Amino acid sequence: VGGRIKPVSPSELALHNSINDAWLAIRGRVYNITHYLPYHPGGPEELMRGAGMDATELFDKVHPWVNYDSLLAKCLVGPLSFDRPDGD
Ligand code: HEM
Repeated sequence: VGGRIKPVSPSELALHNSINDAWLAIRGRVYNITHYLPYHPGGPEELMRGAGMDATELFDKVHPWVNYDSLLAKCLVGPLSFDRPDGD
C-alpha cells in the first residue's frame, strides 16, 4: 500500500509510543516501526526505547552502521517538522 507522505510534529510523534502503534524519528525522518518490531534483531523492547521520539542519538549509540532508511523504506511516514504555537 503506498502510504501518503506527510510532515509529523514532535507532539504528534509522541502520541505513537505503544507497541501496537509505534513511530520513531531518525535524522529528520519519521518511521512507523510497528510492523518492524518483531523483526528487530535487538528485540522489540529495545526498539521501543526509541518510540514516540527523535531516536537519532539512541540509534547512533547502539548501531550507527545499520541502514535503517532502506530497512524502513516502506514505513516512512514523513519528515519531522516543528510544533506550531497554536498546537496544529
Ligand atoms: C541490533 C537496540 C533501533 C536495526 C540491535 C541491538 C540492540 C539494538 C541492543 C543489538 C542486539 C544484539 O546484538 O544482541 C536498538 C535501539 C533502537 C534501535 C535501542 C532505538 C532507536 C533500530 C532501528 C533499526 C534497527 C530503527 C532499523 C530499522 C537493527 C539491526 C540490528 C540491531 C539490523 C543488528 C545489527 C548488527 O548485528 O550489526 N539494536 N535498536 N535498530 N538493530 Fe537496533
